Amino acid sequence: MKRVLGVVLVATLLWPVATTAAKADGKEIFLATCGNCHFLTRDPARRDDMVAPPIDMMAVHVRLATGGNRDAFVRRVMDYVRAPAPGKSVDAMAVERFGLMPAIGDTYPELTDADLKAVAEWMFDAHLQIQIPPGMGTGMGGGMGMGGGMGGGMGRGRPQ
Ligand code: HEC
Repeated sequence: MKRVLGVVLVATLLWPVATTAAKADGKEIFLATCGNCHFLTRDPARRDDMVAPPIDMMAVHVRLATGGNRDAFVRRVMDYVRAPAPGKSVDAMAVERFGLMPAIGDTYPELTDADLKAVAEWMFDAHLQIQIPPGMGTGMGGGMGMGGGMGGGMGRGRPQ
């Protein structure tokens, strides 16, 4: 009797975890790989740690460049990360500031096409609500303020 109860309990506890994990796939992959360069969003307190543009802004730029079409967005992101080139970039200022993104095959060769697709789909879906603030144009970093004094230690990396 005790044993049965234990099993039921464990199953109940695991259930929500299992369902969210399936959905969060693209994001998980992003955080484990792309996220080592790209912040999810701009963080003025960690401005000096940035080695790549925050991914929310890139998602908006690519969405605008592909007319809001999810398939075109996904194809474009997959193509770019496999073979970045200045001529393809949607944000020349990002290339100028951070240098060209290294091809994903050089940094994370273990990522499959399915992984890249999941990441690109997540990028599209997760940033649908975000618009470029009026007056910001395509520029990055205007008016970012000082933002000092926020405690550190909230890593964006996650235990896998
Ligand atoms: C080694 C660091 C690094 C990694 C890892 C990385 N990126 Fe980038 N990424 C950059 C930099 C730097 C830029 C800005 C320069 C540029 O656009 O090439 C960039 C730009 C981009 C852009 C803008 C493309 C465009 O059309 O202008 C997208 C989208 C992007 N990255 C997606 C990803 C995704 C998705 C991953 C993971 C699969 C990833 N990046 C992994 C450094 C990285």
